[in-house]
Amino acid sequence: GRLWLVVPAAGQGRRMGADCPKQYLSLAGRPVLARTLARLHEAFPEARLCLCLDADDGHFDPAWVPFADWRRAPGGAERVDSVVNALEAIAPEAGEDDLVLVHDVARPCVTVGDLRRLVAAIGDDPVGGLLAAPVADTMKRDDGAGRVRATESREGLWHAYTPQGFRLGLLCRALNEALARGVAVTDEASAVEAVGLSPRLVGGRRDNLKITHPEDLALAELVLSAQELAAQT
Ligand code: CTP
Ligand code: MG
Repeated sequence: GRLWLVVPAAGQGRRMGADCPKQYLSLAGRPVLARTLARLHEAFPEARLCLCLDADDGHFDPAWVPFADWRRAPGGAERVDSVVNALEAIAPEAGEDDLVLVHDVARPCVTVGDLRRLVAAIGDDPVGGLLAAPVADTMKRDDGAGRVRATESREGLWHAYTPQGFRLGLLCRALNEALARGVAVTDEASAVEAVGLSPRLVGGRRDNLKITHPEDLALAELVLSAQELAAQT
């Protein structure tokens, strides 16, 4: 089957608190969105892209899209609604068994190596999988008043990253069922889990950070320059 890339880029970036959505902030001289798409294109130049954009987006420039084959879908109220819109946009052209990778526009530091390892790890697995990393910090649960109630075991706990890759047919079914049942869908895997399946956890680099808060922009710049230095040695 074919490879499809779905990039939700219709968020407002409220936690970033900048005067434009965070995907349009400059990251080492280029918009975050352009950097994310460049990494995806480097890994999968032949893939087809669907980009979810807010209808009122006044910042987007199609010159930032390096893919020959791409289309846009309207953003929805929540991330999951944007992804559902993208799947509807590609459904007429795509096959049920085509692999769809969903990747947050706010994760520009994902490496070509991790992208390709994820696709290789999913292989023909009908359930699909996601990039993730084991939790490193000790985990505390609060008592609702700013004090520790308990220390939780981090044994077996992972941070879920993107991309997350699933077959189009399964992903559509899982998202629609989860939404219909009122399940909170914070990522694609949670919808697939809600229909009783277990996505594969594919260990990925911890520098695949999601730009969320103001300090993350400087961190992402450091990550990109460290990755470039490492690539030269
Ligand atoms: N996203 C989207 N449509 C939405 C909400 C989010 O396409 N209605 C996208 C964002 O653009 C981002 C990804 O989903 O690439 C992850 O969301 P998040 O990090 O929460 O970004 P924002 O929603 O933009 O930020 P915030 O929650 O701080 O407003
Ligand atoms: Mg959000």
